[in-house]
Amino acid sequence: MIPRELRPGIYSVGAIDWDRRLFDSLIPLPDGTSYNAYLIRGSQKTALIDTVDPPMKDILLDNLNDLAVNRIDYVIFNHAEPDHSGAIVQVLDRYPDAKALCTAKCRTMLMDRFLIPEERFKIVEDKEKVSLGDRTLEFIYTPWVHWPETMCTYLPEDKMLFTCDFFGSHLATTEMFAVDEGRVYEAAKRYYAEIMMPFRTNIQDNLKKLADYKIDIIAPSHGPLYDRPEFILNAYRKWVSDQPGNIVVLPYISMHGITRKMVNHLVSALAERRVTVQQFDLAASDIGKLAMALVDAATIVIGTPTVIIGPHPNVAYACILANALRPKVKFASIIGSYGWGGRAVEQIAAMIPNLKVEIIPPVYCKGYPKEADFQALNTLADTIAKKHREAGLK
Ligand code: FEO
Repeated sequence: MIPRELRPGIYSVGAIDWDRRLFDSLIPLPDGTSYNAYLIRGSQKTALIDTVDPPMKDILLDNLNDLAVNRIDYVIFNHAEPDHSGAIVQVLDRYPDAKALCTAKCRTMLMDRFLIPEERFKIVEDKEKVSLGDRTLEFIYTPWVHWPETMCTYLPEDKMLFTCDFFGSHLATTEMFAVDEGRVYEAAKRYYAEIMMPFRTNIQDNLKKLADYKIDIIAPSHGPLYDRPEFILNAYRKWVSDQPGNIVVLPYISMHGITRKMVNHLVSALAERRVTVQQFDLAASDIGKLAMALVDAATIVIGTPTVIIGPHPNVAYACILANALRPKVKFASIIGSYGWGGRAVEQIAAMIPNLKVEIIPPVYCKGYPKEADFQALNTLADTIAKKHREAGLK
């Protein structure tokens, strides 16, 4: 993408990655992504905020050429992950007088990863300001969004906040700003669920800190910018809040149809009791959709047959993922079946220690479910609905 002027002297100079479909060899990217970088010209100095993923470095360098950028004084690294720092070597080579500005932790990471000499860096402290002449950069430490070294950069004269991953979305689009808010909401929620959710309490603190700043534009380094910041700020406030919805997430696997029969019965029983359910067949589901559902869920019910003596491996994967993402679920249970024995329930419970949940008694049946098993599923639905009601969930 060619450079685009956001405000006089402020340009978007990053790259759109339309075709990328997987991040970290883990996270599905159904809508591609972008690596946004920003050039800011002050009356005396010029700064570049973030760079791009290594395969896109020539796009960034070409954009700087197109804008006839002969000198960069500061390259700001809000975050050390290579999708934003991946052109550091080329940019510092081309601009030998440029200083890399970042937190101390970020400097260590960049030196370790890219073998950059220490003298190219200048550490900035929390709330430190650097003048570009008629413009100022203020650095705001916002740790753990989603690495320990992360910060934001604030441009008070333009009331712009550059947030790198924070508030970002994996969304390839030519629209500079979040115009189609429904589409951006989905992409930003997916991003939050997959990347940010484990750091929910840190984000609560960071949101409080940012409330001290007047912001007209939020400029993340993935996806479109927000010229209506309340849209994404309100979304984040909801996602990080401690209160889940009246929602059950039900990831499951069925090998011979028995667990599916139990899942279908439980889903109907919960719906009858006015509990919303999101059901995911793990043999076919987008794991990102499951992560998104966990953002708001109060209860997770895991459905699995018994494979040898434990849960199905796809179920084990979903449990490990849920445990890593640390959603705010309050209750958990397990349903499924076995042929001759097994320890699936104990093994699943051991896989989710990070979920601070009350375990509701599982329903595990031998062979095809009998009347007593269906009654047990009804009782499970009763218990979940009652616990949601008692917790005041809507
Ligand atoms: Fe977009 Fe944490 O990098």
